[in-house]
Amino acid sequence: MVDDIFRLHPVNASTTGSWVDWHYFFLVGMSLVISIGISVAIIILAFRYHRSRTPRHEPGFETNLKLELTWIIIPFFILMGIFVWSSIIFFHKRTPPVDSMEIYVVGKQWMWKIQHPGGRSEIDELHIPVDRPIRLKMTSEDVIHSFYVPAFRTKMDVVPGMYTTTWFEANRTGEYHLFCAEYCGTDHSGMIGRVVVMQPEEYSEWLRGGEMGVPPQAAGEALFERHRCNDCHVQDDEARCPSLVGLLGRQVRLSDGQVIVADEAYIRESILRPHEQIVAGYPSIMPSYEGQLNEEQIFQLIAYIKTLQPEDVDQVDVPLDEDLETQP
Ligand code: CUA
Repeated sequence: MVDDIFRLHPVNASTTGSWVDWHYFFLVGMSLVISIGISVAIIILAFRYHRSRTPRHEPGFETNLKLELTWIIIPFFILMGIFVWSSIIFFHKRTPPVDSMEIYVVGKQWMWKIQHPGGRSEIDELHIPVDRPIRLKMTSEDVIHSFYVPAFRTKMDVVPGMYTTTWFEANRTGEYHLFCAEYCGTDHSGMIGRVVVMQPEEYSEWLRGGEMGVPPQAAGEALFERHRCNDCHVQDDEARCPSLVGLLGRQVRLSDGQVIVADEAYIRESILRPHEQIVAGYPSIMPSYEGQLNEEQIFQLIAYIKTLQPEDVDQVDVPLDEDLETQP
């Protein structure tokens, strides 16, 4: 009962939660042992060496190499152990499994807008299936927010102008708190919601029910046509612009010789500031779409571009340099 009202420690509902917990308990435990040890030593030594007991003041001091080495070497290994241990947790939490389900999150003063791959979207609520890795791709329309689910031991900044990613795998059904953990203005404290972890069947049912929006890739295709992107980005030898087929994740050579991987952030930049990173061999003729598209629409365009895969598998593996020679 009291548990529901007051909890020092949130429930753990994710696969990596216990890793974080053990690390946390270890740090707290070690701090306690050291603090108590030092406090007890201070009290004992204060009595033992009180002026009344040792009135003689002896000048000079002795060194004890063994003792000094002990208090250098032991803490060194303890601290390096903490470093390695926390790094393992950090990298694991930073590397989403390849088969994870991707959900888009847009933070906005003062709400969380969430878009599921099937088309359903929601505000201040996140419904997910249990036992399935979920990857969140997040950005903000205005200021920095932070997506925080204590039960998953997950907290990640949501930053305007860039994409951040986090992942988790819930291993317990139920409802959990969702917070914004970065002060973002007047109603920051009201930027809260809940995460609902459901059985996979319930989740599919939930996906089908409710108000069904257009799937992001279909909405992206409509935007692609409405903004006449297909006037230039056609799959054609005569094309004036680079083809977008199989673009996501591919290496791209830019006009300044730099080779980059075309990820979501690159595509977003190219839509908003097309003159910054020009693909080698193409003129800089694309207009900027800054101010015409919001972050959700950019997510939809990216979801659509992701679906543009070559039918002819050979096209994917064209080496970068050969690829360039065929271009004007
Ligand atoms: Cu959003 Cu605090």
